[in-house]
Amino acid sequence: MKSNNKAAGKKYAIVTGASSGIGFQTSLLLVRNGFYTYATMRNIDRSEQLADVVKKENLPMEVLPLDVTIETSVRHTVDRIIKESRKIDVLVNNAGYGLIGARRYSYVGNKVTL
Ligand SMILES: NC(=O)c1ccc[n+]([C@@H]2O[C@H](COP(=O)([O-])OP(=O)(O)OC[C@H]3O[C@@H](n4cnc5c(N)ncnc54)[C@H](OP(=O)(O)O)[C@@H]3O)[C@@H](O)[C@H]2O)c1
Repeated sequence: MKSNNKAAGKKYAIVTGASSGIGFQTSLLLVRNGFYTYATMRNIDRSEQLADVVKKENLPMEVLPLDVTIETSVRHTVDRIIKESRKIDVLVNNAGYGLIGARRYSYVGNKVTL
């Protein structure tokens, strides 16, 4: 099958919640270790720090919008990635947040959708 890969022969990784913390660091770990990395985040205005490193080190990474709680957002971005890469080798579905405290006092409301 003819491929239209932008980075043919590469391995592809997707990371959710790449704007900070573990997702940020994992995106850099993957891209520095040979993965063409799609660093996704719900607010790409928060991509500046990642973009700076990528530019400085000339790394093969794209930042794309993806909110894990919105199905259309997930579909739109994953469809786009698959169209480009034809495969996903690694998915790090990191997006989320921690709740600390006794369960009976921890209100999660509609956030359980994460
Ligand atoms: N750090 C720990 O010790 C620890 C321990 C156990 C589990 N975890 C889990 O590991 C994950 C990352 O933790 P962290 O310490 O790196 O936290 P963090 O620095 O707060 O990062 C959380 C990331 O998730 C993103 N996010 C939240 N809701 C999202 C959504 N709906 N769609 C897309 N992205 C979303 C945040 O994006 P915004 O920038 O837009 O907020 C942020 O980039 C979390 O799922 C956390 O529960 C962490």
